[in-house]
Amino acid sequence: MNNLPGRKEAEAILKKVGCSEEVINHARAVTKLALKLAETLRSRGLEVNLKLVEAGGLLHDLGRCRTHGVKHGFIGGEISRTLGLPQPLVNIVERHVGAGIPAEEAAELGLPARDFIPQTWEEKIIAYADKLVMRNKVIDFEEALKELSRSLGENHPALGRFRKLHREISENLNQALSSKRKEKS
Ligand SMILES: [Fe+2]
Repeated sequence: MNNLPGRKEAEAILKKVGCSEEVINHARAVTKLALKLAETLRSRGLEVNLKLVEAGGLLHDLGRCRTHGVKHGFIGGEISRTLGLPQPLVNIVERHVGAGIPAEEAAELGLPARDFIPQTWEEKIIAYADKLVMRNKVIDFEEALKELSRSLGENHPALGRFRKLHREISENLNQALSSKRKEKS
């Protein structure tokens, strides 16, 4: 992936497409948290591309230059494709919304009827970190879950998807942390 934008280039793209300062600050905070998660996961042998996480964190909300609605992921994906960004990055942008959207829900929302579910570690990390950053502040999982429930309703399937994402990432993080502790003792 040699056409992966670096930090400066990604920020220049956000400005060029017209993202607000608020969106850019949110993206920076998501990137910071995502890189922290990615580095820990990587330190224990999981294959995570840090440059991709950085570019994905910065560009995940690219579509917010056009809409703040649920379609901003899909629209961001279209913009990324137009800009010639690599497919793994387009996938991060497209699949970060609501801890992922399955085909059936996507169709109901007026999106193409295909899965927008994060698949790779880089995609999962960004979808997860995005939920844990409120504007530009990191909040904990329980608070983020409450926030999601407030905005989508307490029975929305996105809540279950967010829980699953949390479980998967924390299990791997805890494993990473406990083996680090073992190494030290
Ligand atoms: Fe977003």
